[in-house]
Amino acid sequence: MAVMPVRIGIIGSGFEADLHAAAIRMAPDEAELAAVASPTPGNAAALAGRHAIPRVFTDYREMLCEKDLQMVTIAAPNHLHARMTLDCARAGKHVVCEKPLAMNLEEADEMLETCERQGVLLLYAEELFFTPKYVKAKEMADQGAFGKVYLVKQSEKHFGPHADWFWDVDRSGGGVFMDMGCHGIAFCYWFLDRSPIRSVYCQMSTQVHGGRTRGEDESLCILEFENGATGLVENSWARRGGMDDRVEIFGEGGVTYANLHMGNALPTYREYGYGYAVEKAPGTKGWSYPVFEELWNYGFPQEMRHFARCATGKEEPRATGRDGRVVMEALYAGYASAGRGRKIELPFGPARVRKPIDLWRA
Ligand SMILES: NC(=O)c1ccc[n+]([C@@H]2O[C@H](COP(=O)([O-])OP(=O)(O)OC[C@H]3O[C@@H](n4cnc5c(N)ncnc54)[C@H](O)[C@@H]3O)[C@@H](O)[C@H]2O)c1
Repeated sequence: MAVMPVRIGIIGSGFEADLHAAAIRMAPDEAELAAVASPTPGNAAALAGRHAIPRVFTDYREMLCEKDLQMVTIAAPNHLHARMTLDCARAGKHVVCEKPLAMNLEEADEMLETCERQGVLLLYAEELFFTPKYVKAKEMADQGAFGKVYLVKQSEKHFGPHADWFWDVDRSGGGVFMDMGCHGIAFCYWFLDRSPIRSVYCQMSTQVHGGRTRGEDESLCILEFENGATGLVENSWARRGGMDDRVEIFGEGGVTYANLHMGNALPTYREYGYGYAVEKAPGTKGWSYPVFEELWNYGFPQEMRHFARCATGKEEPRATGRDGRVVMEALYAGYASAGRGRKIELPFGPARVRKPIDLWRA
């Protein structure tokens, strides 16, 4: 018997909610966009209009009363992830939660326990597990192309996020390491077949945005894995010139490099700045690297299609709340390492931390 597409509601109507909606629409055989909820009525209605979403709510809890919704994606600021996940789970909806999973480990644990108790999936929206270039690198590594992989580097840099809440550590939990270091940690962990993380060493600073945030805008993180490999995660909100996202994989028998903005982008110079705005570039003049088939090249449609298939039992989840919890612990250790000036061994889970950055700057 044919299985109907999974009916999905989106929480949020900003940057990432728009990506979720566009990605879900690219999998019409598996998923159906049924509703959107966001406290900014104009934005929610506009998003609904752009993506032909039939139901619009200003309070997400009202959306959760809709019996036919099976899955909800959370694309709201970080400090709301835990509360929203618990509400979704208690309403019997599968949850796709954006990164980082939560503000602290207690929240992460409660999210995992509640979803398990309620019998719903907690899926972690780490699209790097689905990014075609990065998936290709992993496939080659898994086939033995590089022999034993001893170093995995992931780097994501731009000049800082678009919305105010990212800069307010009470709502974001930290600066660039929390925002994008979570991608790099997840990537290294996934690439190395989830070998446990043994230790974390981190250096952080605020180089250019000190007037705007208490968070770090530069971070370097070294991860030691139990299998003997090293992860190197480099992040910046201080880098001008738009988004830079790349990986480098080194094995005793080979190496591969993947750059998300080279090879699938158009090196472009614009004197007048007209047209397409490149992600995270403050302007459109000068050199930029517009990516074609952008969503697909990042892996968002592949991710959402997979999550929809998980909800109907067609696939086993490839990115779960457990991955998000591992990342959260490494984030804690990273901030503590920067604060103490030394490497931190895992497991590491000090109590009474409201947000990771408190371990660096109280
Ligand atoms: N995976 C990625 O690459 C990626 C990229 C960007 C953002 N994100 C994540 O997505 C999440 C959202 O980020 P963004 O860039 O879309 O931020 P944004 O500021 O553009 O959008 C946030 C949205 O949340 C909504 N919101 C706020 N309070 C709400 C509430 N109480 N109920 C319902 N909605 C509420 C806002 O109205 C807004 O529409 C964050 O957790 C961020 O880390 C992930």
